[in-house]
Amino acid sequence: MGASHSGCRCVDVGDIEPGAGGDAWAQLEVDVSICQACSLAKTRTQTVFGTGDRHARWMVIGEAPGADEDRQGEPFVGRAGQLLNAMLQAAGFQREDVYIANILKCRPPNNRDPQVDEVAACAQYLQRQIEWVNPQVILAVGQIAAQNLLQIDTPIGRMRGNRYTWGPNNIPVVVTYHPAYLLRSPTEKAKSWADLCLALSLSNENVA
Ligand code: URA
Repeated sequence: MGASHSGCRCVDVGDIEPGAGGDAWAQLEVDVSICQACSLAKTRTQTVFGTGDRHARWMVIGEAPGADEDRQGEPFVGRAGQLLNAMLQAAGFQREDVYIANILKCRPPNNRDPQVDEVAACAQYLQRQIEWVNPQVILAVGQIAAQNLLQIDTPIGRMRGNRYTWGPNNIPVVVTYHPAYLLRSPTEKAKSWADLCLALSLSNENVA
């Protein structure tokens, strides 16, 4: 992450001190809500900023809002979100205990894949969110989220099971299947459980 973009009328979030409290978060949320940096601003109902505990040990990063999220303004609120909640619960977390965000803050029309320029335009927002939450582990859900977060093009089957890191603090990143994929392929849930166990062990490692 860390890509800059032009054409955005928003405040340069790089000017906001990391670790700043509610004001910085509130400012960032406003910046996102009025962002016109890419063409998704024309088709969104509203932006989907992110939700959860800003001091969370776990941060979950998905791809982009879908129709339900675009309507409600919150990530992972549809069927995939319900499965994500169940996965988190199995790992010992309530949804409110983790911080959840997406690579893109706006829904791509018809849920198409994010485009390179859209990811670049949105990257600075997610970068701030990760830096400010500074979680012990990031769970990247789905190939598109993982590839964009890690800036690699490895297929998800080969990313799973590895320990990646993000950013200057080397935050551990674990990659797992997207819950929407698990809804279509429930037999893969066992692999996702193994991924959650890896994430748990890495976050526990960081606590010790
Ligand atoms: N899929 C995602 O990747 N993110 C959401 O917020 C919802 C569905």
